[in-house]
Amino acid sequence: MKTFFMVKPDGVKRNIVGQVIDRVEQEGFKISKMKMMTISSELAEEHYGEHKDKPFFQDLVSFITSGPVVAMEVEGEDVVSEVRRIMGATNPSDADPGTIRADFATKLEENVVHGSDSEESAERELGLFFNN
Ligand code: RTP
Ligand code: MG
Repeated sequence: MKTFFMVKPDGVKRNIVGQVIDRVEQEGFKISKMKMMTISSELAEEHYGEHKDKPFFQDLVSFITSGPVVAMEVEGEDVVSEVRRIMGATNPSDADPGTIRADFATKLEENVVHGSDSEESAERELGLFFNN
């Protein structure tokens, strides 16, 4: 099984890419593709399309395009739900101790990582970022 995982611009700016990726590798998952890139507005709007009617959509697109990200394809057993577990809850203040968001993030809007939320999302997002 594969998922799409990304270190967001705040993680890159704060020089914690290595520490974040280490969490994923330490859990036994394989990074099978990886690239640093700056996301275009078009790609951001497509990627976060499910949120297009939400009040925070424009801020979300601005943030995710604000600097380079590190985009990855990650492989392993139950990788979609396992990566979400390692990430922690969307709002770092709700995230369990030991998760990436609890340990590295403080704000809902700048929560360091993205991970696909279902196998369908994973397929769609890997297609958008890696032409899978
Ligand atoms: P992501 O897609 O980035 O991995 O995050 P997620 O699944 O945990 O959360 P999702 O509901 O998909 O929301 C996407 C991102 O939008 C920001 N957000 N802001 N201001 C708000 O009320 C609000 N709600 C969500 C978060 O940064 C979240 O990661
Ligand atoms: Mg999401």
